[in-house]
Amino acid sequence: MSSYEIAVLPGDGIGTEVMPEALRVLDAVRAEYGTEFRYRHFDWSCETYRETGRMMPADGIDRLRDHDSILLGAVGYPGVPDHVSLWGLLLPIRREFDQYVNLRPVRLLPGVTPPVRDKAPGDIDFWVVRENTEGEYSRLGGRQGEGTPAEMVLQTAVFTRHGTDRILRYAFEFAERIGKPHVTSGTKSNGIYHSMPYWDERFRAIAAEHPQVAVDQDHIDILCARFVMSPERFDVVVASNLFGDILSDLGPGVTGTIGVAPSGNINPERRFPSTFEPVHGSAPDIAGRGVANPIGQIWSAAMMLDHLGEQDAAADVVRAIESVLGAGAVRTPDLGGTASTADLGKAIAAEIGAA
Ligand code: NAD
Ligand code: IPM
Ligand code: MN
Repeated sequence: MSSYEIAVLPGDGIGTEVMPEALRVLDAVRAEYGTEFRYRHFDWSCETYRETGRMMPADGIDRLRDHDSILLGAVGYPGVPDHVSLWGLLLPIRREFDQYVNLRPVRLLPGVTPPVRDKAPGDIDFWVVRENTEGEYSRLGGRQGEGTPAEMVLQTAVFTRHGTDRILRYAFEFAERIGKPHVTSGTKSNGIYHSMPYWDERFRAIAAEHPQVAVDQDHIDILCARFVMSPERFDVVVASNLFGDILSDLGPGVTGTIGVAPSGNINPERRFPSTFEPVHGSAPDIAGRGVANPIGQIWSAAMMLDHLGEQDAAADVVRAIESVLGAGAVRTPDLGGTASTADLGKAIAAEIGAA
């Protein structure tokens, strides 16, 4: 029987409300498939920062290192500046564990009415492959001439050959692996002089290694418009850290709610644990009310199962999500219903093994 050590970090806001539902579904997976999970719980959050001046202890990364995976809720809450909380916990985890792939499915689920007209499940079903450790997310730069009329802030983006090639290669290999050999790249090479033409150049070079994969290279602005106007055209979309971040909220927005979207922050070489977390944040506007949609967290747990090699269990969790949403009786407010976070979590857990 397989057994996994999982680090559980609910984080802030609704992270603490949706995490118990993912664990409830994993309990059902344990009962059905015999897979054992041993959890170590870490309550690192903005509360920790207020108490200790740090988001996690100085040896926090080392304490996570020996786990098979990390399951994370959301980080960031009013009262602590976002760049402080995120650079104090989530972003170091991604970087220290070289989780250079951020894999984010965009899928219209059954029973959900999208804001775009005449779309059915199957019409919107693609993956965003986001570069996750460099690019525009950088601490290089700084402020000069503070308080003077010449005050200026420089922010440097970093695109290494190693970092660019490996995310592009991952996107092409992933497209082949899932049987959708078509990759779209989004850049802004008309306005950004150095980094984006470089990404385009490397995209063409890696594409040449995969002649059987169809390619599109779009400017990011029209790519955003196409996400809304013709989402059917996409299979795998690869983009830099910032553009991938924006696309991976836009995609779920087009499918009706950000509340269902999952992600994997993956170290493909498996030298370090990967982190699975919803795409959404801590949602301070609804936190504490028990109404957050737990599907983003539950689907993230399914992506974790898939990464751990538990493909049958992973597929069953996704099927359970689709089955409960398709039946339509249990929906949280973001989906137009009145169910609570726990109602939806329980309904999905009860569906595990029912196929
Ligand atoms: P957000 O994703 O937290 O919320 C945006 C909107 O979506 C809100 O109206 C919220 O109520 C709604 N929403 C989000 N998740 C939902 C769910 N599961 N069910 C129903 N509705 C949901 O984004 P934000 O408001 O820009 O950020 C809030 C905080 O979260 C900030 O501190 C931000 O930095 C942080 N954040 C963290 C992560 C992360 O940890 N990966 C991701 C995004 C934002
Ligand atoms: C996400 C979030 C983070 C990101 C923030 C909170 C730093 O928006 O996981 O998408 O931009 O990566
Ligand atoms: Mn984001």
